[in-house]
This record gives sequence, structure tokens and C-alpha cells, in this order.
Amino acid sequence: MELYPVLRRWLFHLPPERAHNLTLRLLGLMGRIPPAAALLRRLAAVPPHPVKAFGRVFPNPVGLAAGYDKDGVALRGLAALGFGHLEVGTVTLRPQPGNPKPRLFRLPAEQAIINRMGFPSGGASALARRLRKSGLPRGVVLGVNIGRNKETPNERAVEEYLALLDIFAPLADYLTVNISSPNTAGLRDLQHRTALETLLGALHARRQRVSDRAMPILVKLSPDLTPAQLDAALEAVVRSGMDGVILTNTTVARPGVRSHPLAVERGGLSGAPLCKMSEEALRRALRTLNGRLPVISAGGILTPEDARRRLDMGALLVQVYTGLVYRGPLLVRDIVQGLPPKPGSPGVSSSPEVVS
Ligand code: FNR
Repeated sequence: MELYPVLRRWLFHLPPERAHNLTLRLLGLMGRIPPAAALLRRLAAVPPHPVKAFGRVFPNPVGLAAGYDKDGVALRGLAALGFGHLEVGTVTLRPQPGNPKPRLFRLPAEQAIINRMGFPSGGASALARRLRKSGLPRGVVLGVNIGRNKETPNERAVEEYLALLDIFAPLADYLTVNISSPNTAGLRDLQHRTALETLLGALHARRQRVSDRAMPILVKLSPDLTPAQLDAALEAVVRSGMDGVILTNTTVARPGVRSHPLAVERGGLSGAPLCKMSEEALRRALRTLNGRLPVISAGGILTPEDARRRLDMGALLVQVYTGLVYRGPLLVRDIVQGLPPKPGSPGVSSSPEVVS
């Protein structure tokens, strides 16, 4: 019997943020108790499907999108669910409370979420301390997603991203520069060409100074960019020497849910209604990039078929958040099990990106 539908019915009786925090606490607790973590791992039963990316071997192509475990409090429990990579954050340099509650809304019939969390964060020092202390189980790839504090003007954002790079370069497998959340006023303006080149150029120069290994830096973009803005942002990302792109963050549009009573809530929409926009952004980015950089696809991946389509289109990895809320943790296993056999299996030709 599938347990998650029962658990979900119970969780959905609670206010969304409370349900989320409870889930995180439970996962955190289970992760700290070795037999409980082993049980999770056995239940999740995700087969290996390694992918080589950004100089690391990812155990499989399915990752946890940023925002789920902002402060890295449940990484061992989440790793036991079988994710190939976990992206913690968005973390800000200084702690901040985020927007007033309520700031998280479920649209169950639409399999969607609207959030305006606004980067609630325990701050960089607390996350760094936690990562140093607890570490991660071997094999799971750890990304740290970084963003600026609410009150920092864009003109001073560069200093803050640089400070975050200094702190997390020794601790993460990759960093993601988040300039696409709709819930921090003005943040998305950093996606525009000149501002983006200034920011990414500074990060590129700094990473070469702080670490002898090349810390991969990815850039996460919004689905609300026009095709021309997306192309310009991608060119800036390439020119600045970055390593990849994550497409997409949440949207301020309300595709297909305009008449829903919660559609008027301010914030970013995720889940099934975002699927088409994220897919279109992926298609355009793949064409524009033409193999120059890998793309991680996120946005509305709720089924193994959704994930498979993104990978078939050319995404190197996928990430899920809202799918986890509506479909439960076995979504990771179901996606990985549904993937075609690895190169090296009889009758399958090899691809350079996949480890055989
Ligand atoms: C997010 N997302 C997000 N992204 C990010 O880069 N930093 C963040 O802090 C957050 N926070 C966050 C909170 C909540 C409640 C949600 C639902 C989402 C965006 C997330 O990582 C992802 O890009 C989108 O949600 C699209 O994927 P899904 O949810 O449709 O699978």
C-alpha cells in the first residue's frame, strides 16, 4: 500500500507552512537516527543511474530544488530519499525573517503552490556551521543556492554574493546564483545584461582566487523573461565563464489558474501550471546555448513522464519541489526507474555525459 496519500491527507489538514516544517523536522530526525535513515533508504529504493556533471558524479539525475530545505536542517533524511543532489538555500548572508505569514498557499486541484516566502534564512554562518558539523552521506552532491538580503540594494548585491561565495566555496559541490526569485523586490533586475555581467564577472574572478579547485557556479533564471531577455541572460552567463543554468524558478504569471480564488495572492507559482513555461524556456535555452553549457530543468515536474521529457529534450539533470508535495518522496524512485538503461548496457550506445 502506498503510504504517502494517507500522510498527505493528514498534512493537507495543516496550514501549508506548518505541514512543511513538520515534514522537514521529521526528515531531519530520521536522518540523524541511522536505523531510521536506513529504513528511508530501503523504502525509497532508488536505483543507481550516475550522471557526470560539473566535474562531479551525481548518483542519479533527480535533485531537490532550492527552497525546500533552506537552512540545511534535514540533509541526511533527504539524501536517504534517494536524491542525486540536494540544493540547500536560498541562504542570505545575514539572517532574515522573510515575509509576514501566511506566505505559502496550496492549490491542490491544480497541483500547484503559490509562495512569497521572501528568503527566510538563518543566515550564512549558521548554515556553514551546520554543513561543517554534520557533513553529508558520501555520494550525494550538495549545491548551495545564494541570494541577497532583502534590504541590500542591487548596487551592493555583488559584495554580498562574493561574501557568500567565500563562505560556501569550501563546503559545497556547486553554487547557484539566485537572481530569479519574485519575492525579493528588484532581485530579478539582476538578470538584465549589464547587471548580470558585472555580478557574474566578479564571481568568476573571485572563485579563481578562493579555491584551487574550480567551484562550479550555476545561474538560476526566471520563466518570466521574454525570449529576447532569456537569450541575453544566457549569453551573459556564457561570457562570464559560468558552468550551467537552472531553468526555471517560479512564475509571477498565473497560467491556467487565473480564476482560482488564491490566484490573487502575490508570489511565485510552481507545480503543474508552470510545466509548459519551464519546458518552453528549456527548449529555447538549449537552442540558444547550442551545447555551450548544461541546463538543469525545474518547474512542473510532477510525473516520471515529465522528467523523462525534459531529459530527452536535452536537460542534463532535473529538480523537483512541488511534485514532492503532491506525489511524495517515491517520485524520485519512479523517475529514476523509468529512465532508459545506462550506456554500457547491451544494445545502448554511450553518451559522453553519462558515466557507464
Ligand atoms: C521555491 N523555489 C525557490 N527557488 C530558489 O532558487 N530559492 C528559494 O529559496 C526557493 N524557495 C521556494 C519556496 C517554495 C515554497 C517553492 C514552492 C519554491 C523555487 C523552486 O526551487 C523551483 O524552481 C520551482 O518551485 C519550480 O519547480 P516545481 O516546484 O514546479 O517542481
